[in-house]
Amino acid sequence: MLRKFLLQASTRRNFSASSSSSVAFFRQCSSSSSSSSQIPNSHFVEHMEDTNETPPSATISIDRTALYNPPEQSHEPSAESELVKHLKNIIKFRGGPVTVAEYMEEVLTNPKLGYYINRDVFGADGDFITSPEVSQMFGEMIGVWAMCLWEQMGRPSKVNLVELGPGRGTLLADFLRGVSKFKNFTDSLHIHMVECSPTLQKLQYRNLKCVTEDSADGNEKKGINSTITVSPVSWHASLEQVPTGLPTIIVAHEFFDALPLHQFQKASRGWCEKMVDVTENSSFRFVLSPQPTPATLYLMKRCKWADSEEIFKLDHIEVCPKAMDLTQEISKRIGIDGGGALIIDYGLNGVVSNSLQAIRKHKFVDILDNPGSADLSAYVDFAAIRHSAEEVSGVSVHGPMTQSQFLGSLGINFRVEALLENCTEEQAESIRTGYWRLVGEGEAPFWEGPDNQTPIGMGTRYMAMAIVMCLLCSVVFPCHVLIINEMLISICEEENVKNIIVRIKNKK
Ligand SMILES: C[S@@+](CC[C@H](N)C(=O)[O-])C[C@H]1O[C@@H](n2cnc3c(N)ncnc32)[C@H](O)[C@@H]1O
Repeated sequence: MLRKFLLQASTRRNFSASSSSSVAFFRQCSSSSSSSSQIPNSHFVEHMEDTNETPPSATISIDRTALYNPPEQSHEPSAESELVKHLKNIIKFRGGPVTVAEYMEEVLTNPKLGYYINRDVFGADGDFITSPEVSQMFGEMIGVWAMCLWEQMGRPSKVNLVELGPGRGTLLADFLRGVSKFKNFTDSLHIHMVECSPTLQKLQYRNLKCVTEDSADGNEKKGINSTITVSPVSWHASLEQVPTGLPTIIVAHEFFDALPLHQFQKASRGWCEKMVDVTENSSFRFVLSPQPTPATLYLMKRCKWADSEEIFKLDHIEVCPKAMDLTQEISKRIGIDGGGALIIDYGLNGVVSNSLQAIRKHKFVDILDNPGSADLSAYVDFAAIRHSAEEVSGVSVHGPMTQSQFLGSLGINFRVEALLENCTEEQAESIRTGYWRLVGEGEAPFWEGPDNQTPIGMGTRYMAMAIVMCLLCSVVFPCHVLIINEMLISICEEENVKNIIVRIKNKK
C-alpha cells in the first residue's frame, strides 16, 4: 500500500513545521557501501618522525553523489576568526600540537566561540538537516518507544525524561504532541534538556511552548513548563547535572557523533595519534605524535574488544573516550534508577576508521578550514558503546538495529498512511519524501524533481540502540504490540482512526 503511495508521488512539497527544504543534507549522506562505509578524509598529515606512509591524496575521496557544487580542496583565505586565534594560542602556549579531540571540542563547544554556541545550524539556511527536522513522524515514533518503556516500568508516577543535545527541540515537541492524550504518562514527565548552546536552549524553550511561572512557594526560583503536556522542563550543561533518584528515559539523537574523538594512524613505528598543529605560515595541519599519548589507553581498550583481523586491515582508527564514559554514566544511572536510553545515530557496529567530516552549508568541507564555521561529526562506534554499557551491571543492551527496522517496528508505516489519507497533494509530497529519508535506502525511486535534490534514504545508515534496566525486556525489539497500537491510534486519531484500527487488527 505504502509503496503504491510512494510511487504515485508527482509534485513538489513543503508543508509542516518539521518538514525540511528539499536541498537538505544529512550529515551522513553519501558513501556508497554500507558495511565499510567509512568516509575517508583527505588531510595532509605531516609525519613528525615517519616517512614510510602512504602519500596523502589530493582530493576528498568521499562519494559526493549527494553533493552539489563540491568544494574546492584548498583552505579558503578568510580573516582569522576569534576561534582560529584561540586555537593557535593554545598550540603556541602549549608548545606543541593538540589532539583531534581537543580541536573538536574547542571548535564545537567552546563556551564563547564554539560552532553550536551562537547559532541555529539546522535546516536549509543552516549547515545540515536531522531526522526530527525532516518529519514529525520521527519524534512521534520516539514517543511511542518511550511510552512502551514507561509501561514496562509499571507506569511510575514520576519519570525523568532526558534529551541529550536536543537541537531545536523539534524531536521532543513532536514526541509530546504525539503522547499528549496519555495523561498518566505525560503527568509523570519531568523533562531535562542537556544542551550546551544558549541559542539552542532559547529555540528549545520556544518549540516546547514553554512558559515561565513563579514557583508555588513564592521563592525566587521560577518554574518552566512545556504547555504541550504541562510538564516541567529544565536545562543542564551535562547529564551529571540532571537529578538522580527517579526512573529515567534518555534519548540521544545525533549527540554521540558530535563528541570529541581521537584519531590514530598506523605508522612504521606503530599506532600514532593524529594531532593538529600550526605551520610556519600559520595554517593548520595534521601531524603524528612522536610517542604514545594518554588516549592510547583507550585505543588499547577499544582494540581488545575487536578481532585482531579487524584491526590488522585498518590504517586509521577513531576512538571516542567521551562516548565510552558517557555510556557508562548512562548505564550506571539506569542500572540504579531504572528506565532506559535510546541512542540513534549514524555509525557502524564495529571499529570506525577515518570518518571525521566537516559540513558547511550542506557541503563537505576541509576539517581544518576556518574552524568553527562548519559542523564536525564522525561515525558512532556502536560496538564500543555496547561493550562500555555491558561493563556496567544491572543493564542490558539491545541493538544496534537500523533506523528503518526500528521505526518500522514502532509502526511508522501506519502513521505515514494515516497522514497520507488526509492531506493535500503538496503535503503528501512532503510526507512521502520525509518518510523515504527516514526509512528508505539510497535515492528515492519515486522522485521526479531535479536530480541534485533527490531525497536520500538514511534508513540503513542510521542505527538505534537501547540500554535498558535488566529486569525490563527490550522495548526496541520486539515492541509491545498492544501499547503501540493504542499509541498509534491516538496519534492518528484526527486523520483516519477506523482505517488504522482495521489495518492493525488485520496485522495481528
Ligand atoms: C547534531 S545536533 C543534534 C540535534 C538534535 N538531536 C537533532 O537531531 O536535531 C547536536 C546537539 O548536541 C548539542 N551538543 C553538542 N555537544 C554537546 C555537549 N558536549 N554538551 C551538551 N550539548 C551538546 C548541540 O548544541 C546540538 O543541540
